[in-house]
Amino acid sequence: MNTELTILGRQLTLHRFPANKNDTLQAWDAGDEYLIHHVEDMGLADNQHILVLNDHFGALSCWFSTRHRVTVMSDSFIAHQGILNNLRHNHCEEVTYLTTMDAIPKDVDVVVMQIPRNNRHLIWQLSQLREQLPSDCAVIGVNKAKDIHSSTLKLFERYLGDTHTSLAWKKHRLVFSQPNAALNVVPEDIEWDVEHETIHLSNRPNVYSGESLDQGARFMLKYLPQDPTVKNIIDLGCGNGVLSVKLGQLNPNAQLTCIDESFMAVASARKNLQQNLGYERDIHCVANNCLDDFTEPCADLVVCNPPFHQQQAITDHIAWQMFCDAKHVLHKTGKLMVIGNRHLRYDVKLAKLFGKSRIKTVAGNKKFVILEATKG
Ligand SMILES: C[S@@+](CC[C@H](N)C(=O)[O-])C[C@H]1O[C@@H](n2cnc3c(N)ncnc32)[C@H](O)[C@@H]1O
Repeated sequence: MNTELTILGRQLTLHRFPANKNDTLQAWDAGDEYLIHHVEDMGLADNQHILVLNDHFGALSCWFSTRHRVTVMSDSFIAHQGILNNLRHNHCEEVTYLTTMDAIPKDVDVVVMQIPRNNRHLIWQLSQLREQLPSDCAVIGVNKAKDIHSSTLKLFERYLGDTHTSLAWKKHRLVFSQPNAALNVVPEDIEWDVEHETIHLSNRPNVYSGESLDQGARFMLKYLPQDPTVKNIIDLGCGNGVLSVKLGQLNPNAQLTCIDESFMAVASARKNLQQNLGYERDIHCVANNCLDDFTEPCADLVVCNPPFHQQQAITDHIAWQMFCDAKHVLHKTGKLMVIGNRHLRYDVKLAKLFGKSRIKTVAGNKKFVILEATKG
C-alpha cells in the first residue's frame, strides 16, 4: 500500500488511522491531489487562513500547514487522530481542530472541502459557511465525479451560492462556490418519537440514521435485558443513543457509557439520555475509536450495533475491533450483545473470540440476528 504522496516535488508520508497491518487502502485520494494542485495554482500569498472541511486522514492539513494557517473541521474523532498523527510524522506545523458543530471561524481566506457523503451534513456545513463567510470567500469542494449529482450542485446553489464545476481529473471533480445565496436557516437537530416506545430522539446532522430509526436498532430494542445485577453498561457505536435510552429505562440504577467516533453522535446521545432519563442519571458520552484507552474491566454489559464502513471504505475490521475491545472491558461474567445482518456472520467472529459454547442466539428474523457472548 502506498504511503508516499508526492506533489510538485514535495513528499508526505501518510497513514490511515487506526493503523491496520493488512490495510490495502491509502490515506488520501485523487480528490486531495486535485484540490492541492488547484490551490497551488491559485498562487495564494503565504500565511492565509485555510479552512479544511472533512479532511480524511490529514493529506490536506499536512500540505497546507507548511505555508498557511490551517483550521480543520471534521465530525470524525478518527479523522482528528489521523490528522494529528500525520502532522507529527511529517513535522508539520500545528493546526486548529474543530468539530462541525463549532462555529466557522470568521477570518477564513479559502475553504477546501472533501464533500461529505451525508447530504444533511453537507447542507449543515454549507449553511454554516454561508452564514459566517463574506461573499468573496472561495469555497472549493471535491468528490468522485460519480458522486457529484445535479442534486448535489443544487444544494450548493441553494445553501451556499453561485456554483460551477471543473472538468474531471482522475475521476474526481472540483466544485467552486461563493457564499452569496439567500440565507436559509437549517435546524441543527431533527426530532422524532420512536414508535411503540416512550422515547423522543434529537439528531444532529451527521448522526447515523438521524432521520428514522435504524431497522437493526428497532429489532434490538425488543430484546434488551432488564437485569438488576447489571451495574455498568457500554453502548459501543451509540449513534443517537437509542439503545442506551431503552437500557436506561429498563435498568434505572445502571451507569451508562455511550461511545461513538462521530462527535455529533456523542452530542445527540448525551442530549437524548439527559432528556429521556433525566439530568441526574450517571451517564458518560465520549468520542473515541472503539474502546481505545479503556484499560480495565469496567462493564457488565456491552451492546453493539456495529458499523460496516469507515469513512469511504466498506470494512468489517471495526466490528472485529469492537468485539475484541468489548471482551477486554467486560467483567468476569459480563455479556456482549450484538446485532447484525445475518449475512455478516458475526457468530463466527464471536465464537473465535469467546469460544463457541459461550455464544447464544437471542433472537433472529429474516434479516437480523441478535447474539450474546458471555465472557468466561
Ligand atoms: C450501525 S450504527 C449504530 C448506531 C446506534 N447504536 C443504533 O443502533 O442506531 C454504528 C455506529 O458506530 C459508529 N462508529 C463507526 N466507527 C466507529 C469507531 N471506530 N469507534 C466508535 N464508533 C464508531 C458510527 O458512527 C455509528 O454511529
